[in-house]
Amino acid sequence: MEQYVVKGGVPLRGEVSVGGAKNAALGILAAAIMTDETVTIENVPNVRDTRVLLQAIEGIGAKVKYVYNNSVQINGGSICDLNVEYEYIKKIRASYYLLGALLGKYKESNVALPGGCNIGSRPIDQHLKGFKALGAKVDIDKGVVCAKADKLVGSHIYFDVVTVGATINLMMASCMAEGDTILENAAKEPHIVDVANFLNAMGANIKGAGTDVIRIKGVSRLHGCTYSIIPDQIEAGTFMVAAAATHGDVVVKDVIPKHLESISAKLMEMGCEIVEGDDWVRVIADKELGSTNVKTLPYPGFPTDMQPQMAVALALAKGSSMVTESIFENRFKYVDEINRMGAKVKVEGNTAYIEGVQRISAAQLSAPDLRAGAALVIAALAADGISEIEDIEYIQRGYEDFEGKLSCLGAVIAKVDSDRELQKFKLKIG
Ligand code: UD1
Repeated sequence: MEQYVVKGGVPLRGEVSVGGAKNAALGILAAAIMTDETVTIENVPNVRDTRVLLQAIEGIGAKVKYVYNNSVQINGGSICDLNVEYEYIKKIRASYYLLGALLGKYKESNVALPGGCNIGSRPIDQHLKGFKALGAKVDIDKGVVCAKADKLVGSHIYFDVVTVGATINLMMASCMAEGDTILENAAKEPHIVDVANFLNAMGANIKGAGTDVIRIKGVSRLHGCTYSIIPDQIEAGTFMVAAAATHGDVVVKDVIPKHLESISAKLMEMGCEIVEGDDWVRVIADKELGSTNVKTLPYPGFPTDMQPQMAVALALAKGSSMVTESIFENRFKYVDEINRMGAKVKVEGNTAYIEGVQRISAAQLSAPDLRAGAALVIAALAADGISEIEDIEYIQRGYEDFEGKLSCLGAVIAKVDSDRELQKFKLKIG
Protein backbone atom coordinates (compact mmCIF):
# COMPACT_ATOMS: atom_id res chain seq x y z
CA MET A 1 0.00 0.00 0.00
CA GLU A 2 1.26 3.46 -0.85
CA GLN A 3 2.24 5.72 2.02
CA TYR A 4 4.00 9.03 2.57
CA VAL A 5 7.30 9.34 4.41
CA VAL A 6 8.01 12.83 5.65
CA LYS A 7 11.05 14.25 7.40
CA GLY A 8 9.75 17.30 9.21
CA GLY A 9 11.32 20.53 10.35
CA VAL A 10 12.02 22.16 6.97
CA PRO A 11 10.30 25.54 6.41
CA LEU A 12 8.49 25.47 3.06
CA ARG A 13 9.84 28.07 0.62
CA GLY A 14 9.19 28.91 -3.02
CA GLU A 15 6.24 28.96 -5.42
CA VAL A 16 3.49 26.43 -5.97
CA SER A 17 0.76 26.34 -8.60
CA VAL A 18 -2.78 25.36 -7.70
CA GLY A 19 -4.93 23.16 -9.96
CA GLY A 20 -8.61 23.30 -10.84
CA ALA A 21 -11.19 23.06 -8.06
CA LYS A 22 -12.09 19.44 -7.34
CA ASN A 23 -15.56 20.25 -6.05
CA ALA A 24 -16.36 22.45 -9.07
CA ALA A 25 -14.97 19.78 -11.41
CA LEU A 26 -17.27 17.12 -9.96
CA GLY A 27 -20.37 19.22 -10.66
CA ILE A 28 -19.14 20.33 -14.07
CA LEU A 29 -18.12 16.85 -15.29
CA ALA A 30 -21.57 15.53 -14.35
CA ALA A 31 -23.32 18.53 -15.97
CA ALA A 32 -21.33 17.99 -19.18
CA ILE A 33 -23.43 14.91 -20.02
CA MET A 34 -26.55 17.10 -20.25
CA THR A 35 -25.93 17.91 -23.91
CA ASP A 36 -25.48 15.51 -26.85
CA GLU A 37 -22.74 17.80 -28.18
CA THR A 38 -19.08 17.57 -27.22
CA VAL A 39 -17.94 19.59 -24.23
CA THR A 40 -14.27 20.35 -23.54
CA ILE A 41 -13.37 21.02 -19.93
CA GLU A 42 -9.99 22.45 -19.06
CA ASN A 43 -8.14 22.70 -15.74
CA VAL A 44 -9.69 19.45 -14.49
CA PRO A 45 -7.68 18.26 -11.48
CA ASN A 46 -6.37 14.78 -12.17
CA VAL A 47 -7.31 13.34 -8.77
CA ARG A 48 -9.01 10.10 -7.73
CA ASP A 49 -12.48 11.65 -7.32
CA THR A 50 -12.57 13.13 -10.84
CA ARG A 51 -11.14 9.94 -12.36
CA VAL A 52 -13.80 7.82 -10.63
CA LEU A 53 -16.61 10.17 -11.70
CA LEU A 54 -15.34 10.00 -15.29
CA GLN A 55 -15.40 6.18 -15.04
CA ALA A 56 -19.02 6.36 -13.86
CA ILE A 57 -19.83 8.67 -16.78
CA GLU A 58 -18.18 6.24 -19.21
CA GLY A 59 -20.01 3.41 -17.47
CA ILE A 60 -23.40 4.80 -18.58
CA GLY A 61 -22.24 5.09 -22.19
CA ALA A 62 -20.89 8.66 -22.55
CA LYS A 63 -17.63 9.18 -24.43
CA VAL A 64 -14.77 10.50 -22.31
CA LYS A 65 -11.39 11.46 -23.70
CA TYR A 66 -8.42 12.99 -21.86
CA VAL A 67 -7.02 15.53 -24.34
CA TYR A 68 -4.13 16.44 -22.05
CA ASN A 69 -3.52 15.60 -18.41
CA ASN A 70 -5.96 18.29 -17.22
CA SER A 71 -8.25 18.63 -20.23
CA VAL A 72 -11.18 16.30 -20.85
CA GLN A 73 -13.69 15.97 -23.67
CA ILE A 74 -17.09 14.51 -22.85
CA ASN A 75 -19.87 13.58 -25.23
CA GLY A 76 -23.14 12.56 -23.60
CA GLY A 77 -24.86 11.77 -26.92
CA SER A 78 -24.26 8.03 -26.59
CA ILE A 79 -25.62 7.54 -23.06
CA CYS A 80 -27.54 4.25 -23.03
CA ASP A 81 -28.02 3.54 -19.34
CA LEU A 82 -29.65 5.66 -16.63
CA ASN A 83 -28.41 3.42 -13.81
CA VAL A 84 -25.20 4.42 -12.06
CA GLU A 85 -23.61 1.39 -10.48
CA TYR A 86 -22.86 1.09 -6.80
CA GLU A 87 -19.21 0.24 -7.48
CA TYR A 88 -18.61 3.85 -8.56
CA ILE A 89 -20.89 5.56 -6.12
CA LYS A 90 -19.46 3.99 -3.01
CA LYS A 91 -16.06 5.51 -3.78
CA ILE A 92 -17.14 9.11 -4.15
CA ARG A 93 -19.93 11.25 -2.84
CA ALA A 94 -20.29 13.44 -5.90
CA SER A 95 -21.66 10.67 -8.10
CA TYR A 96 -24.97 12.00 -6.75
CA TYR A 97 -24.58 14.83 -9.24
CA LEU A 98 -25.47 12.25 -11.89
CA LEU A 99 -28.92 12.11 -10.26
CA GLY A 100 -29.58 15.77 -11.06
CA ALA A 101 -27.83 15.69 -14.45
CA LEU A 102 -29.60 12.56 -15.77
CA LEU A 103 -32.96 13.59 -14.31
CA GLY A 104 -32.62 17.04 -15.89
CA LYS A 105 -31.75 15.59 -19.30
CA TYR A 106 -33.69 12.30 -19.54
CA LYS A 107 -36.30 12.88 -16.78
CA GLU A 108 -35.07 9.69 -15.13
CA SER A 109 -32.08 8.60 -13.08
CA ASN A 110 -31.23 5.69 -10.82
CA VAL A 111 -28.17 6.22 -8.65
CA ALA A 112 -26.99 4.29 -5.58
CA LEU A 113 -26.89 6.40 -2.41
CA PRO A 114 -23.54 8.16 -2.14
CA GLY A 115 -20.41 7.27 -0.20
CA GLY A 116 -17.44 9.61 0.25
CA CYS A 117 -15.55 10.75 3.33
CA ASN A 118 -17.04 9.60 6.61
CA ILE A 119 -17.24 13.03 8.23
CA GLY A 120 -20.83 12.93 9.40
CA SER A 121 -24.25 11.53 8.55
CA ARG A 122 -24.47 13.50 5.26
CA PRO A 123 -28.18 13.09 4.37
CA ILE A 124 -29.47 14.00 0.89
CA ASP A 125 -33.03 14.87 1.89
CA GLN A 126 -32.73 18.40 0.45
CA HIS A 127 -31.72 17.03 -2.97
CA LEU A 128 -34.70 14.69 -2.99
CA LYS A 129 -37.10 17.37 -1.75
CA GLY A 130 -35.97 19.57 -4.64
CA PHE A 131 -36.42 16.84 -7.26
CA LYS A 132 -39.91 16.18 -5.95
CA ALA A 133 -40.77 19.89 -6.08
CA LEU A 134 -39.87 19.82 -9.80
CA GLY A 135 -42.42 17.03 -10.29
CA ALA A 136 -40.25 13.92 -10.04
CA LYS A 137 -41.38 10.81 -8.24
CA VAL A 138 -38.53 9.75 -5.99
CA ASP A 139 -38.18 6.28 -4.46
CA ILE A 140 -35.36 4.61 -2.62
CA ASP A 141 -35.13 0.95 -3.50
CA LYS A 142 -32.38 -1.22 -1.95
CA GLY A 143 -30.08 1.78 -1.51
CA VAL A 144 -30.69 3.14 -5.02
CA VAL A 145 -32.37 6.52 -5.49
CA CYS A 146 -34.80 6.31 -8.41
CA ALA A 147 -36.09 9.65 -9.69
CA LYS A 148 -38.52 9.81 -12.59
CA ALA A 149 -40.85 12.42 -14.08
CA ASP A 150 -43.14 12.68 -17.11
CA LYS A 151 -42.05 16.29 -17.22
CA LEU A 152 -40.14 18.61 -14.92
CA VAL A 153 -41.79 21.93 -14.08
CA GLY A 154 -40.00 24.87 -12.45
CA SER A 155 -40.73 25.44 -8.77
CA HIS A 156 -39.93 27.60 -5.75
CA ILE A 157 -37.58 25.62 -3.52
CA TYR A 158 -36.44 26.71 -0.06
CA PHE A 159 -33.51 24.71 1.32
CA ASP A 160 -33.77 23.97 5.05
CA VAL A 161 -29.97 23.96 5.34
CA VAL A 162 -27.33 25.64 3.20
CA THR A 163 -26.14 22.75 1.06
CA VAL A 164 -23.57 22.82 -1.71
CA GLY A 165 -24.58 19.44 -3.14
CA ALA A 166 -28.32 20.10 -3.30
CA THR A 167 -27.82 23.60 -4.76
CA ILE A 168 -25.70 22.18 -7.60
CA ASN A 169 -27.99 19.18 -8.14
CA LEU A 170 -31.08 21.39 -8.35
CA MET A 171 -29.43 23.83 -10.79
CA MET A 172 -28.81 20.83 -13.06
CA ALA A 173 -32.20 19.21 -12.61
CA SER A 174 -34.11 22.45 -13.24
CA CYS A 175 -32.18 24.10 -16.07
CA MET A 176 -34.20 22.26 -18.75
CA ALA A 177 -37.46 22.16 -16.76
CA GLU A 178 -40.53 24.01 -18.05
CA GLY A 179 -40.76 27.52 -16.59
CA ASP A 180 -38.90 29.19 -13.77
CA THR A 181 -37.24 27.76 -10.69
CA ILE A 182 -36.15 29.77 -7.66
CA LEU A 183 -33.68 28.26 -5.20
CA GLU A 184 -33.74 30.05 -1.84
CA ASN A 185 -31.17 29.72 0.93
CA ALA A 186 -28.81 28.48 -1.77
CA ALA A 187 -25.12 27.81 -1.06
CA LYS A 188 -22.75 30.55 -2.28
CA GLU A 189 -19.43 28.68 -2.59
CA PRO A 190 -17.17 29.61 -5.53
CA HIS A 191 -17.85 26.21 -7.08
CA ILE A 192 -21.61 26.94 -7.13
CA VAL A 193 -20.85 29.99 -9.28
CA ASP A 194 -18.50 27.94 -11.45
CA VAL A 195 -21.07 25.21 -12.14
CA ALA A 196 -23.69 27.90 -12.91
CA ASN A 197 -21.28 29.66 -15.29
CA PHE A 198 -20.56 26.34 -16.98
CA LEU A 199 -24.27 25.52 -17.40
CA ASN A 200 -24.80 29.04 -18.78
CA ALA A 201 -21.93 28.47 -21.23
CA MET A 202 -23.91 25.40 -22.40
CA GLY A 203 -26.98 27.60 -22.96
CA ALA A 204 -28.73 27.49 -19.57
CA ASN A 205 -30.26 30.63 -18.06
CA ILE A 206 -29.16 30.80 -14.41
CA LYS A 207 -28.94 34.08 -12.52
CA GLY A 208 -27.92 34.90 -8.97
CA ALA A 209 -25.39 32.10 -8.35
CA GLY A 210 -23.10 33.36 -5.57
CA THR A 211 -26.05 34.90 -3.71
CA ASP A 212 -28.58 33.01 -1.63
CA VAL A 213 -31.32 33.27 -4.27
CA ILE A 214 -30.70 31.56 -7.61
CA ARG A 215 -33.21 32.04 -10.45
CA ILE A 216 -33.31 29.53 -13.29
CA LYS A 217 -35.35 29.93 -16.46
CA GLY A 218 -35.78 26.57 -18.14
CA VAL A 219 -34.36 26.23 -21.67
CA SER A 220 -35.24 23.50 -24.14
CA ARG A 221 -31.71 22.27 -24.81
CA LEU A 222 -28.06 22.69 -23.89
CA HIS A 223 -25.15 22.76 -26.33
CA GLY A 224 -21.42 22.05 -26.37
CA CYS A 225 -18.79 24.50 -25.13
CA THR A 226 -15.23 24.82 -23.91
CA TYR A 227 -14.83 25.78 -20.26
CA SER A 228 -11.96 26.18 -17.81
CA ILE A 229 -12.51 25.32 -14.13
CA ILE A 230 -11.67 27.85 -11.38
CA PRO A 231 -8.65 27.29 -9.08
CA ASP A 232 -9.09 25.10 -6.02
CA GLN A 233 -9.72 27.19 -2.91
CA ILE A 234 -8.95 24.28 -0.57
CA GLU A 235 -5.75 23.13 -2.28
CA ALA A 236 -4.54 26.75 -2.15
CA GLY A 237 -5.55 27.10 1.50
CA THR A 238 -3.76 23.86 2.36
CA PHE A 239 -0.46 25.19 0.97
CA MET A 240 -1.01 28.51 2.76
CA VAL A 241 -1.49 26.79 6.09
CA ALA A 242 1.44 24.42 5.43
CA ALA A 243 3.62 27.52 4.90
CA ALA A 244 2.42 28.94 8.22
CA ALA A 245 2.85 25.71 10.22
CA THR A 246 6.44 25.23 8.96
CA HIS A 247 7.39 28.92 9.40
CA GLY A 248 7.98 29.18 5.68
CA ASP A 249 7.53 31.73 2.91
CA VAL A 250 5.40 30.47 0.03
CA VAL A 251 3.80 32.07 -3.01
CA VAL A 252 0.64 30.16 -3.94
CA LYS A 253 0.04 30.86 -7.64
CA ASP A 254 -2.91 30.59 -10.04
CA VAL A 255 -5.51 31.35 -7.39
CA ILE A 256 -8.42 33.77 -6.95
CA PRO A 257 -7.32 35.67 -3.77
CA LYS A 258 -10.93 36.71 -3.06
CA HIS A 259 -11.85 33.04 -2.52
CA LEU A 260 -9.07 32.76 0.08
CA GLU A 261 -10.00 35.77 2.22
CA SER A 262 -11.38 33.82 5.18
CA ILE A 263 -8.17 31.78 5.31
CA SER A 264 -5.88 34.78 4.81
CA ALA A 265 -7.72 36.65 7.59
CA LYS A 266 -7.14 33.82 10.09
CA LEU A 267 -3.47 33.49 9.14
CA MET A 268 -3.03 37.26 9.65
CA GLU A 269 -4.69 37.00 13.07
CA MET A 270 -2.06 34.35 13.84
CA GLY A 271 0.74 36.75 12.93
CA CYS A 272 1.55 35.72 9.34
CA GLU A 273 2.17 38.36 6.71
CA ILE A 274 -0.06 37.95 3.65
CA VAL A 275 0.71 39.68 0.36
CA GLU A 276 -1.82 39.42 -2.46
CA GLY A 277 -1.38 39.83 -6.20
CA ASP A 278 -3.93 39.47 -9.00
CA ASP A 279 -3.67 35.70 -9.08
CA TRP A 280 -1.33 34.80 -6.23
CA VAL A 281 -1.07 34.97 -2.47
CA ARG A 282 2.20 34.95 -0.51
CA VAL A 283 2.30 33.70 3.07
CA ILE A 284 5.31 34.78 5.13
CA ALA A 285 5.47 33.10 8.53
CA ASP A 286 8.82 34.08 10.00
CA LYS A 287 7.44 35.02 13.44
CA GLU A 288 6.03 32.85 16.20
CA LEU A 289 2.40 31.91 15.46
CA GLY A 290 -0.29 33.25 17.76
CA SER A 291 -3.63 31.70 18.76
CA THR A 292 -7.07 32.51 17.39
CA ASN A 293 -10.56 31.03 17.23
CA VAL A 294 -12.09 29.52 14.11
CA LYS A 295 -15.68 28.55 13.35
CA THR A 296 -16.57 26.78 10.12
CA LEU A 297 -19.46 28.25 8.16
CA PRO A 298 -20.86 28.16 4.63
CA TYR A 299 -19.05 30.50 2.20
CA PRO A 300 -17.95 33.26 2.67
CA GLY A 301 -17.27 31.88 6.16
CA PHE A 302 -14.28 29.73 7.04
CA PRO A 303 -14.52 26.47 5.01
CA THR A 304 -15.08 23.20 6.84
CA ASP A 305 -12.67 21.61 4.34
CA MET A 306 -9.86 23.76 5.86
CA GLN A 307 -10.73 23.04 9.49
CA PRO A 308 -8.30 20.14 10.13
CA GLN A 309 -5.34 21.89 8.43
CA MET A 310 -5.94 25.11 10.38
CA ALA A 311 -6.29 23.20 13.66
CA VAL A 312 -2.84 21.67 13.09
CA ALA A 313 -1.31 25.14 12.62
CA LEU A 314 -3.10 26.34 15.78
CA ALA A 315 -1.77 23.32 17.69
CA LEU A 316 1.66 24.85 17.05
CA ALA A 317 0.66 28.44 17.89
CA LYS A 318 1.32 30.13 21.24
CA GLY A 319 -1.72 30.25 23.53
CA SER A 320 -5.22 28.76 23.56
CA SER A 321 -7.41 28.47 20.47
CA MET A 322 -10.88 27.13 19.83
CA VAL A 323 -11.99 25.47 16.59
CA THR A 324 -15.73 24.99 16.22
CA GLU A 325 -17.08 22.74 13.46
CA SER A 326 -20.62 23.75 12.55
CA ILE A 327 -21.13 21.90 9.24
CA PHE A 328 -20.27 18.22 9.84
CA GLU A 329 -20.41 16.35 13.14
CA ASN A 330 -17.51 13.92 12.70
CA ARG A 331 -14.60 16.01 11.55
CA PHE A 332 -12.09 15.76 14.39
CA LYS A 333 -10.77 12.28 13.66
CA TYR A 334 -7.23 13.60 13.17
CA VAL A 335 -7.07 14.91 16.75
CA ASP A 336 -6.00 11.59 18.34
CA GLU A 337 -3.25 11.35 15.72
CA ILE A 338 -1.78 14.80 16.38
CA ASN A 339 -2.08 14.32 20.14
CA ARG A 340 0.14 11.24 19.73
CA MET A 341 2.67 13.63 18.16
CA GLY A 342 2.59 15.84 21.26
CA ALA A 343 -0.18 18.30 20.41
CA LYS A 344 -2.59 19.26 23.19
CA VAL A 345 -6.10 19.21 21.77
CA LYS A 346 -9.30 18.23 23.55
CA VAL A 347 -12.56 17.76 21.69
CA GLU A 348 -15.86 18.45 23.39
CA GLY A 349 -18.97 18.28 21.22
CA ASN A 350 -18.32 20.22 18.05
CA THR A 351 -15.39 22.21 19.45
CA ALA A 352 -11.68 21.46 19.68
CA TYR A 353 -9.90 23.24 22.53
CA ILE A 354 -6.25 23.68 21.63
CA GLU A 355 -3.30 24.52 23.91
CA GLY A 356 -0.49 25.45 21.55
CA VAL A 357 2.84 23.62 21.92
CA GLN A 358 6.22 24.66 20.52
CA ARG A 359 7.14 21.33 18.99
CA ILE A 360 5.54 18.09 17.96
CA SER A 361 7.37 14.90 17.11
CA ALA A 362 7.12 12.42 14.24
CA ALA A 363 4.80 9.42 14.43
CA GLN A 364 3.25 6.58 12.43
CA LEU A 365 0.02 8.15 11.21
CA SER A 366 -3.07 7.08 9.34
CA ALA A 367 -5.18 9.46 7.21
CA PRO A 368 -8.80 9.24 8.44
CA ASP A 369 -10.30 11.18 5.48
CA LEU A 370 -9.25 13.55 2.70
CA ARG A 371 -8.76 16.88 4.50
CA ALA A 372 -7.75 15.32 7.82
CA GLY A 373 -5.14 13.41 5.81
CA ALA A 374 -3.78 16.66 4.36
CA ALA A 375 -3.70 18.07 7.90
CA LEU A 376 -1.60 15.12 9.07
CA VAL A 377 0.86 15.75 6.23
CA ILE A 378 1.16 19.34 7.49
CA ALA A 379 1.71 18.06 11.03
CA ALA A 380 4.43 15.71 9.76
CA LEU A 381 6.09 18.56 7.82
CA ALA A 382 6.23 20.61 11.04
CA ALA A 383 7.28 17.75 13.35
CA ASP A 384 10.76 16.71 14.50
CA GLY A 385 11.79 13.45 12.88
CA ILE A 386 10.46 11.08 10.24
CA SER A 387 6.73 10.33 10.07
CA GLU A 388 4.99 7.69 7.99
CA ILE A 389 1.43 8.33 6.84
CA GLU A 390 -0.78 5.45 5.75
CA ASP A 391 -4.13 5.38 3.93
CA ILE A 392 -3.03 8.16 1.59
CA GLU A 393 -5.62 7.11 -1.00
CA TYR A 394 -7.91 9.49 0.90
CA ILE A 395 -5.49 12.36 0.26
CA GLN A 396 -5.18 11.39 -3.40
CA ARG A 397 -8.95 11.87 -3.76
CA GLY A 398 -8.43 15.63 -3.73
CA TYR A 399 -4.78 16.63 -4.19
CA GLU A 400 -2.95 16.18 -7.50
CA ASP A 401 0.73 15.33 -7.02
CA PHE A 402 0.65 16.59 -3.42
CA GLU A 403 4.07 15.12 -2.63
CA GLY A 404 5.60 16.54 -5.85
CA LYS A 405 4.33 20.05 -5.16
CA LEU A 406 5.50 19.93 -1.53
CA SER A 407 8.93 18.65 -2.63
CA CYS A 408 9.27 21.66 -4.93
CA LEU A 409 8.76 23.82 -1.83
CA GLY A 410 11.68 22.06 -0.14
CA ALA A 411 9.70 19.50 1.85
CA VAL A 412 11.41 16.17 2.44
CA ILE A 413 8.57 13.86 1.42
CA ALA A 414 8.21 10.77 -0.74
CA LYS A 415 5.43 8.42 -1.74
CA VAL A 416 6.60 4.83 -1.28
CA ASP A 417 4.77 1.58 -1.85
CA SER A 418 7.04 -1.05 -0.37
CA ASP A 419 9.12 -1.55 2.72
CA ARG A 420 12.21 -1.57 0.52
CA GLU A 421 11.38 1.86 -0.93
CA LEU A 422 10.67 3.15 2.56
CA GLN A 423 14.04 1.99 3.90
CA LYS A 424 15.81 3.37 0.81
CA PHE A 425 14.23 6.81 1.31
CA LYS A 426 15.05 6.80 5.01
CA LEU A 427 18.70 5.94 4.25
CA LYS A 428 18.84 8.73 1.66
CA ILE A 429 17.52 11.40 4.02
CA GLY A 430 19.51 10.13 7.01
C1 UD1 B 1 -19.68 19.59 -0.27
C2 UD1 B 1 -18.23 19.32 -0.58
C3 UD1 B 1 -17.45 19.05 0.69
C4 UD1 B 1 -17.64 20.21 1.67
C5 UD1 B 1 -19.12 20.53 1.87
C6 UD1 B 1 -19.36 21.78 2.68
C7 UD1 B 1 -18.34 18.31 -2.77
C8 UD1 B 1 -18.25 17.06 -3.57
N1 UD1 B 1 -18.17 18.16 -1.45
O1 UD1 B 1 -20.20 18.42 0.35
O2 UD1 B 1 -16.07 18.93 0.34
O3 UD1 B 1 -17.09 19.84 2.91
O4 UD1 B 1 -19.77 20.72 0.59
O5 UD1 B 1 -18.72 22.87 2.09
O6 UD1 B 1 -18.53 19.40 -3.28
N2 UD1 B 1 -27.29 18.42 4.46
C9 UD1 B 1 -28.54 17.98 4.82
N3 UD1 B 1 -29.37 17.52 3.82
C10 UD1 B 1 -28.99 17.48 2.52
C11 UD1 B 1 -27.70 17.94 2.17
C12 UD1 B 1 -26.89 18.40 3.19
O7 UD1 B 1 -28.93 18.01 5.98
O8 UD1 B 1 -29.78 17.06 1.67
C13 UD1 B 1 -26.39 18.93 5.52
C14 UD1 B 1 -25.11 18.11 5.67
O9 UD1 B 1 -25.29 17.03 6.54
C15 UD1 B 1 -24.15 19.15 6.22
C16 UD1 B 1 -24.60 20.45 5.55
O10 UD1 B 1 -25.93 20.22 5.11
O11 UD1 B 1 -24.32 19.27 7.61
C17 UD1 B 1 -23.76 20.87 4.37
O12 UD1 B 1 -23.67 19.78 3.45
P1 UD1 B 1 -23.39 20.03 1.90
O13 UD1 B 1 -23.04 21.45 1.67
O14 UD1 B 1 -24.52 19.44 1.12
O15 UD1 B 1 -22.11 19.14 1.67
P2 UD1 B 1 -21.77 18.21 0.45
O16 UD1 B 1 -22.40 18.72 -0.79
O17 UD1 B 1 -21.97 16.79 0.86
